[in-house]
Amino acid sequence: MSTKRILLIIGGGIAAYKCLDLIRRLREQGIAVRVVMTKAAQEFVTPLSVGALSNDRVFIDLFDLNDEREIGHIRLSREADLIVVAPATADLLAKMAGGHANDLATSVLLATDKPVLVAPAMNPRMWLNPATRRNTAQLKSDGIHFIGPATGEMAEANEAGPGRLVEVLELVAAIEAQLAAQRKPAAAVTSSLLAGRHVLITSGPTHEPIDPVRYIANRSSGKQGHAIAAAAARAGARVTLVSGPVSLADPVGVAVLHVETAAQMMDAVRESLPADIAVFTAAVADWRVAGSAPSKMKKARGAGPPKLDLVENDDILRAIASSRTSRPNLVIGFAAETDDVVGYARKKRKSKNADWIVANDVSPSTGIMGGDRNRVHLVTASGVEDWPEMAKDDVAERLIARAAQHLNRTWVET
Ligand SMILES: Cc1cc2nc3c(=O)[nH]c(=O)nc-3n(C[C@H](O)[C@H](O)[C@H](O)COP(=O)(O)O)c2cc1C
Repeated sequence: MSTKRILLIIGGGIAAYKCLDLIRRLREQGIAVRVVMTKAAQEFVTPLSVGALSNDRVFIDLFDLNDEREIGHIRLSREADLIVVAPATADLLAKMAGGHANDLATSVLLATDKPVLVAPAMNPRMWLNPATRRNTAQLKSDGIHFIGPATGEMAEANEAGPGRLVEVLELVAAIEAQLAAQRKPAAAVTSSLLAGRHVLITSGPTHEPIDPVRYIANRSSGKQGHAIAAAAARAGARVTLVSGPVSLADPVGVAVLHVETAAQMMDAVRESLPADIAVFTAAVADWRVAGSAPSKMKKARGAGPPKLDLVENDDILRAIASSRTSRPNLVIGFAAETDDVVGYARKKRKSKNADWIVANDVSPSTGIMGGDRNRVHLVTASGVEDWPEMAKDDVAERLIARAAQHLNRTWVET
């Protein structure tokens, strides 16, 4: 996959310093970052620090003769896959909504035909001001994508409410989701392949409370399940994603139900049926703590560790795959294992009444749990296909293409 390029426009807000971390995180993900800073942004962070982290020159002046001759504001936009405005100040939102172009940042924004993602950050009263409400509504209807703001404490003392810049990792995930949404569908996946079909997907881990502050969890990132949901949406399906707690942005064009526990995931899945295809990617906890404590458990000297009574959670895959009334036409389970991956997957397919199992080796040495790549084996009634290692997005595209092909063939045959 060729390197993706972001043009990051940093506005003059107190949260501008977080862009230093953002740039570092994006580059860690292999995303190239070129930066434009507004005049006000330079009051908060220096172009020197930004340039050192982005490993590129920083663009600050519309009327810089050299810049304009060498790169130019039109080329800045043309050479990016996505424009990200973070932090987006109230002032920048107003200028964007009004179509102003009186500095380099706003000229690029007015001249671009690339997708634009804005992450607002400002005082809650600025965010809730009718002018900002109007500007935001206008920008949304113009097709500008928004992430945040988050709600919480402000940098100013005694200020809280909506207006915080979203967490940097959340912003990275939203940027990755926007870039993934631009990926051209694999040859087999056309935007009408699953038109009129409902695809239900579970993703991420579940959290099983021990007490109000502690829980049992696992290392699932949700990346594979979210990628499958995005691929199904690109294939034209109506998609419901039931997601456990993850730090990923909701995929574009997907209805997302956020849950925490296995029991909530089961309820959300049942409520989302009927579906044509169900893909159970989530790493659902097998056990929960019986009667989790209503208040925080205390450590008492000499008392030793508490005894946790575990009870089994309902098996979502088995329950839905065995349902007489609402079994989807194609039920796909995932088996993340560390030993005898394919052997276990074959048994799981039969014992859970699934049509297909996607099996993968999640031993720590593979880096698959939480990573961006996956190497899977597709176990069906006719045998096992060993897929080569590929990006989780590519696994998702291929799985959806296979599922659509299977479903369409089944419909023709029946
Ligand atoms: C200390 C300080 C902090 C500021 N923080 C913010 C902020 O978080 N969000 C915002 O919208 N404006 C903030 N402002 C106001 C902007 O800096 C001001 O509107 C500026 O014109 C924005 O310019 P720009 O949008 O071109 O970057 C702040 C101003 C000061 C002096």
